Amino acid sequence: MTEPPVPRHIAIIMDGNGRWATRRGLSRSEGHQAGAEPVRAVLRAARQAGVRYLTLYAFSTENWGRPEEEIQGLFVLLMKYLQSEVAELMATGVRLEAIGDLETLPALAREALTVAMDCTSGGRELTLTLALSYGSRAELARAASLLALEVAAGAREADSITPQTLAAKLWTSGLPDPDLLIRTGGDMRLSNFLLWQCAYTEFYFTPTLWPDFGEADFQAALDSYQTRERRFGLSV
Ligand code: FPP
Repeated sequence: MTEPPVPRHIAIIMDGNGRWATRRGLSRSEGHQAGAEPVRAVLRAARQAGVRYLTLYAFSTENWGRPEEEIQGLFVLLMKYLQSEVAELMATGVRLEAIGDLETLPALAREALTVAMDCTSGGRELTLTLALSYGSRAELARAASLLALEVAAGAREADSITPQTLAAKLWTSGLPDPDLLIRTGGDMRLSNFLLWQCAYTEFYFTPTLWPDFGEADFQAALDSYQTRERRFGLSV
């Protein structure tokens, strides 16, 4: 019997931290803190399942509009996560990457990210990509601008631009497209995440709030994926 397919790349929209906290009379920042544990659990489960790429939507371009205190709390949490996990990431062959407008991140967070990416650059088991200050529309506009500059400089012809040349200018260049996208928290939308890359991705939506998402929920998403018939626009 053939083994059921394991998604090579899983992308996750980790939604519901705020509602989880509000229901408990806690601050939104405490909800985000509770959201760090499922990150560990999902990474562990993904490695064990043989997933090669895991991409997490940790901070969107739109999230800059949140209260200053919440934004600061998120970056402190990110730095704590990187400092506490880097040894484990190295020991388990996880390479850390980041996508997004990283120049806009607070300097200390950017430094912590650079150190963690350098330390884990030898990881070969799984690539963990954090989307930080990420927005798909900004990513696509930037790619178009880079190509326009090449055309203006005479380095390429306008009609040489193909889906492949555009994809090569995205922050995700080098990452395969996601096979499975999971969104927690009950909403069924992409929220400006990987719009181009999800053209043929399978979607899994669950009402479970991110801090409550555990290995069993991750397994349920994998089980659902394994029932899907992927046709990529071809006939059966
Ligand atoms: C959306 O929930 C979640 C975020 C904006 C932040 C995601 C961050 C984490 C899960 C923290 C841990 C991450 C790492 C990498 C250590 P929301 O606040 O929009 O929830 P709501 O829809 O219930 O208000």
